[in-house]
Amino acid sequence: MSLEISPSGQPFGASITGLNLSMAVSSNVVAEIRDAWLQHHVLAFPDQAISDDDLERFTLLFGPFGDDPFIAPIPGRKHIIAVKRAAAETAPIFAESWHTDWSFQEAPPAGTCLYGITIPPEGGDTLFVNQHLALEHMPDTLRQRIEGRQAIHSARNAYAPTGFYGAADRAAGRSMDIRPSDDAEATQRHPIISRHPETRREALFGCAGYIIGIEGMEQAESWDLLTEIFRWQTQPQFQYRHKWQPRMLLMWDNRSLLHMATGGYKGFDRLLHRTTIGSA
Ligand code: SIN
Repeated sequence: MSLEISPSGQPFGASITGLNLSMAVSSNVVAEIRDAWLQHHVLAFPDQAISDDDLERFTLLFGPFGDDPFIAPIPGRKHIIAVKRAAAETAPIFAESWHTDWSFQEAPPAGTCLYGITIPPEGGDTLFVNQHLALEHMPDTLRQRIEGRQAIHSARNAYAPTGFYGAADRAAGRSMDIRPSDDAEATQRHPIISRHPETRREALFGCAGYIIGIEGMEQAESWDLLTEIFRWQTQPQFQYRHKWQPRMLLMWDNRSLLHMATGGYKGFDRLLHRTTIGSA
């Protein structure tokens, strides 16, 4: 069997057919997938009937497991979380805002794998936006204002007890097992302009949300700048819209992208299993 890599026709993203991920994958094929991942940033593998064991094995081909804080793993697994929503659920859609996964960690994850189990007939697309393209097309005047600056990242707005997924959210009856914690108050600095550790290509890293400020800047000034960057870095011309199918595995590169969930599937269940590829 040989791999077939088909670019999405959008600014980035590709799908890969010609392999069976319920079986062991040779090191040559892993190298081909890694090259495609670095080139296309998001890879979709349609029609993969895989188990949780297969999902974990696939994840470990690309790095160690990452650490997933604030969301309990599914029963019996340490490294798989369920991204799920029940048909009758009224809590806000999980992750429906731009972010890159766990950017508030000291060593944020390299990538994420997400496997579609129950996929609604409409809606529930995942959006991605390419942060190499956003930086490369950024006006010089804006770039000069962020060059050499460190962003302050934190999970507090999302996962602190007072955050978006805090006490009020628990009362809304969310089906995902989110565990808010005071640990979310911690902060971590990362350069706003980062260099991808494998391709060495520069990108914007993270966005307002997990970024709560810019080192050495007053809060109001940093928020104005973060808002301006956010408007620039999330523009449609840098985006890829992913449409799901059941039994589709997706992997993406957190070092070059932002992503967000979308709704539009009221009255339908949605369930995906997610693993995190840690930084090597
Ligand atoms: C996520 O950010 O992991 C969730 C994406 C989605 O539900 O589409």
